[in-house]
Amino acid sequence: MSQLEILGISYRFPDGTTALRDVTMRISEGEFVIISGKNGSGKTVLLRILNGLIKPTAGTVNINGISVVENPFEARRELGLVFQQSDSQIVGQTVTDDIAFGLENIGMNSDEVKIRVRQTLERTGLEDHASQRPRTLSGGEKRRLTIAGVAAMSPSIIALDEPFSNLDYPGVVQVLEQLVNLNEQGHTILLVTHDLDKVLAHATRLVLIDKGSVIADGNPLDALNYAGQCGVRSPKGITSDNIGELTWLKD
Ligand SMILES: Nc1ncnc2c1ncn2[C@@H]1O[C@H](COP(=O)(O)OP(=O)(O)OP(=O)(O)O)[C@@H](O)[C@H]1O
Ligand SMILES: [Mg+2]
Repeated sequence: MSQLEILGISYRFPDGTTALRDVTMRISEGEFVIISGKNGSGKTVLLRILNGLIKPTAGTVNINGISVVENPFEARRELGLVFQQSDSQIVGQTVTDDIAFGLENIGMNSDEVKIRVRQTLERTGLEDHASQRPRTLSGGEKRRLTIAGVAAMSPSIIALDEPFSNLDYPGVVQVLEQLVNLNEQGHTILLVTHDLDKVLAHATRLVLIDKGSVIADGNPLDALNYAGQCGVRSPKGITSDNIGELTWLKD
């Protein structure tokens, strides 16, 4: 059994727009998967289905054997979603409070919350900001806080919608470092992005979506052959010899 099974998912909005068509993917523990596709291809709708926020019109999603449609709350503990808009996900008065909020919400006792918050601050490199007010954080720091808030809940899978959008170069590098660390700590990463050149070297797999259908799914170099037809910019001159250089961590 794969950790994440997406089986024959389709989604149609009430106005008749078909956002996803028979999407099937099986993702294993520890993978670092990039999902890419042009605007409107269905990436955000897919993430919202995986997180149980909307129900597919057809198909099923199982996370560690738990059906997302039948048990969305339980499944959400296994797959945490980081939204594109950081501000909508930040609720605490301080960085520490914000990370604690989700844990308190699931009924964790206050001693455990303290330990978990401290661990999360360390693991996500936010210790120096522990008592800062979130609205005074930079864009990159805010993004890292939303990722930390999700990581604190220890979901086995962390899914992120365009985590690099609106970030400057240092912001991208900080977020990327955080994601690579979380992957090394055992979290499966599911990252939706247009910016392949920032992160492709870290991916074990690239999925390309167009008009709601999976067009390519495999090792990044093979899948890149379909980038043009999916409206995704393929980094120039990429070969098996230099694909390892495709990361902003090495600039
Ligand atoms: N509430 C809605 N009602 C009708 N159609 C919608 C609704 N929300 C999204 N759509 C349509 O569903 C399709 C998929 O949208 P989605 O937001 O998943 O795209 P995306 O791949 O995330 O795009 P982007 O790269 O711009 O974020 C698009 O055609 C969009 O217009
Ligand atoms: Mg989107």
